[in-house]
Amino acid sequence: MELTAEQLRQFAEEGYLFLPDCFSEEEVAVLREEAERIYATNRPEVWREKTGAPRTAFAAHTYNEAFRLLGAHPRLIRPVEQVFGEKLYMHQFKINAKAAFEGDVWQWHQDYGTWARDDGMPEPRAMNIAVFMDEVMPINGPLMLIPKSHVYGVLEAGHDKETTSYPLWTLDKETVTRLVAQGGIVAPTGKPGSVLMFHGNLVHGSAPNITPYPRRIVYLTLCAVSNYIRKPTRPEWIAHRDFTPIEPVADSALRDYARARKAAAE
Ligand code: SIN
Ligand code: MN
Repeated sequence: MELTAEQLRQFAEEGYLFLPDCFSEEEVAVLREEAERIYATNRPEVWREKTGAPRTAFAAHTYNEAFRLLGAHPRLIRPVEQVFGEKLYMHQFKINAKAAFEGDVWQWHQDYGTWARDDGMPEPRAMNIAVFMDEVMPINGPLMLIPKSHVYGVLEAGHDKETTSYPLWTLDKETVTRLVAQGGIVAPTGKPGSVLMFHGNLVHGSAPNITPYPRRIVYLTLCAVSNYIRKPTRPEWIAHRDFTPIEPVADSALRDYARARKAAAE
């Protein structure tokens, strides 16, 4: 999958790109199944909401075959290589649940703010690329983005350790109001298998999910290899220290894995 000149221009200008229909239902179904198995475990990498519902599972690409294949999938790796013009390594990998009824807020923030402050990442040359596992709707806590907010560099932020179970460098109301006056807010919605990539400095957040519809999204944070982190302070499974360039798997790898699993179960 190669991005067109128009898509590259749109990404540079708006700070994000939405790519519907990247993965088939067959490919996404196996990811959903594996995500549920992971959420049911007691691993330290699985973080929960204050209610006990799953919030996020880190580093599943290191111990789960389906997510390993997703983490090296050419439909995700190639477009990001194209933007940065070099090979990539996995800085962070998380499966965010935004569980039905219980999925909590993600306050407004920039990811590169955290990567710079907590991990010592030199430049915002890492990209978030999100794969929708459920239908993301206006009502089930979609990710909200402030278009064009990526052009201001790292904004002042406060370290919120209270609101949710996930400490986050968050922006104040005045900053968000000023950015929204310029760029508005978008909340890309779409079917499972849709992909959303956004700049490390793009301001984003999401509201709680009080609907019966879960909103599970996998986020790969792909970092340019030359931009490896210099001063990590967080655990290895949150900010990875393996800077080996990712070699993409075959385009059919996830589909083949889903079929093999199904055949074995029959
Ligand atoms: C994030 O900003 O890292 C996650 C937000 C979300 O999944 O809603
Ligand atoms: Mn984020």
